[in-house]
Amino acid sequence: MEDIVNKFWAIGGGKGGVGKSVVTVMLGTALAKLGKKVVIVDADLGGSNLHTLVGIRYPAYTMVDFLKKNVLSMDEILLDTPVENMKIICGADDILGVANPKHVQKVKIFNHLKNIDADIILIDLGAGASFTTIDFFLFAPNRIVVLTPQVTSLQNAYGFIKSSLYRALSKEFSKFPEVMDLINRAGFSTQGEKLDSMAKLHEAVRCVDPEDAEKLMSLLNHFNANLVVNMMKDSKEKNISQIVRSVAKNYLGIEIEDFGSIQYDKVLDASINNMAAFLKLDQKSPSHYNFYDIALAIIRKQKAAVLADDAPMALPVGEPAILAQTL
Ligand SMILES: Nc1ncnc2c1ncn2[C@@H]1O[C@H](COP(=O)(O)OP(=O)(O)OP(=O)(O)O)[C@@H](O)[C@H]1O
Ligand SMILES: [Mg+2]
Repeated sequence: MEDIVNKFWAIGGGKGGVGKSVVTVMLGTALAKLGKKVVIVDADLGGSNLHTLVGIRYPAYTMVDFLKKNVLSMDEILLDTPVENMKIICGADDILGVANPKHVQKVKIFNHLKNIDADIILIDLGAGASFTTIDFFLFAPNRIVVLTPQVTSLQNAYGFIKSSLYRALSKEFSKFPEVMDLINRAGFSTQGEKLDSMAKLHEAVRCVDPEDAEKLMSLLNHFNANLVVNMMKDSKEKNISQIVRSVAKNYLGIEIEDFGSIQYDKVLDASINNMAAFLKLDQKSPSHYNFYDIALAIIRKQKAAVLADDAPMALPVGEPAILAQTL
């Protein structure tokens, strides 16, 4: 059971062009090379292009075939990539009317994704914070938010995390009108008493019902999001993730983990138009080790979650390179 939960990683970030799709492909490749059975999923249903990055011009099957029942199971739309051990589920073009699937369609996608045979499934999200994008983000229990050192990207990443958290709260308390009223005031409106931090919202909910306040606290404590700073040109830019983490801690009451950074890599950038060849040749470009470090962090988290389910054992800690020897 824990495998079903642990295998999903969503890769989002709010802003377009920050590298979500590139990170998905490169992380997937690193994980596959480390021996994991990987599936990458294009959940950018309105502007899918993940297939292009792995050298597929015209996908034989896409999510549309699944949604339109041209195929019976999701296994049938799994396509090979140039990387052994890594398969892809391609997205679709908005022209086919699937950019905003209905609730039942989303539930169907999520249920079928759970049955896919893989160790790790990486879900590449589109830009923006539409309900569809956020629902895919929340569906995956493990989440990576990609941002770049630009201040606009920082703002979008924080906004994306905030919108996702409030959507999660709205789902949790949808049948509790009094709490919903407070959540709406805190998240989206300035009317009435200001509930401009999660601490104030928590206190207000506690006055309504202490049990609901506990539920709220538990959701905050379990809200999993990890930051990856992409296209770093200077090590000082690492601070950017610290800014998002401290604002999220102070205003949203959630702990966000720093999941590492990826340097700006000219070789990678120049290879985008022919990524398939780049992946096939297994070229060691400068960012290569950054992706491996993050892949190892994913594996370490997966192991920790499985161990936590089994017994409260201490996990070996150390540098990813040391950890790699134990994998
Ligand atoms: N580490 C990096 N070094 C250099 N260039 C990069 C790096 N990561 C991404 N890029 C460049 O950024 C461009 C945008 O990346 P990508 O398409 O992955 O962004 P995205 O966040 O998925 O965008 P969208 O929101 O439109 O889907 C790529 O074409 C690539 O050239
Ligand atoms: Mg993309």
